[in-house]
Amino acid sequence: MRITVLYGSARKNGVSSSAAKKVLNAVRREEDEIREYYLAEQHILPCAGCLACRKQEVCSRKGDDMENIYKDIVSSDFVIFSSPVYCLDVTGPFKLMYDRLYPMLGGPQPKYVPRHPGIRSCMILSQGAPPFAFADVAERMEFRLKNNGFDNLATLRYVFGIDLSVEEEEMRAKAEALREKQVQDNDLLIAEICRRLGR
Ligand SMILES: Cc1cc2nc3c(=O)[nH]c(=O)nc-3n(C[C@H](O)[C@H](O)[C@H](O)COP(=O)(O)O)c2cc1C
Repeated sequence: MRITVLYGSARKNGVSSSAAKKVLNAVRREEDEIREYYLAEQHILPCAGCLACRKQEVCSRKGDDMENIYKDIVSSDFVIFSSPVYCLDVTGPFKLMYDRLYPMLGGPQPKYVPRHPGIRSCMILSQGAPPFAFADVAERMEFRLKNNGFDNLATLRYVFGIDLSVEEEEMRAKAEALREKQVQDNDLLIAEICRRLGR
């Protein structure tokens, strides 16, 4: 199986990157081909908005790291996307990369059709805030993935990503319990991803 992992955080051992590695380690087998990209370290030009990719699967942007990232994504059996929530959305490097996946869609507006339907994926999001906040980021990402033709097997959210700086003891205990529960729920989702991938 070909697996591509996209890390949207500059923090290589942060919450979202660690969770992405946890998923990777759960699904990977020795014979798998793995590609990993720390997006903050990649040279990714912003989409030029030329719409050349509407007619053919081409990109007018040449010579940056997105050429390889794009090829790896569309030839993958499974793609692990990860990003923290920054300023109410995915990070800048993640969004730069995602805009450049526009060639995955073809055909005339408004009936864009995925050119690579059915690539299985998993989305990981981390955030400082509690779970009831920023659920819209997960919803939007799922919609984006579906729109590009991905078969997103699960979206894992990791909340309270920063140091639990809750002063009050009772609040802090509640926050920790919520976070632990979410890690357990995510572990069940990872088991389900493995099952769906036949791993
Ligand atoms: C510039 C910046 C913006 C952030 N914006 C948000 C936000 O809008 N909502 C939120 O819940 N957390 C926000 N955070 C907190 C991060 O999402 C949180 O610390 C996350 O767990 C970091 O993930 P990582 O460990 O994978 O880097 C922000 C952090 C930074 C540095």
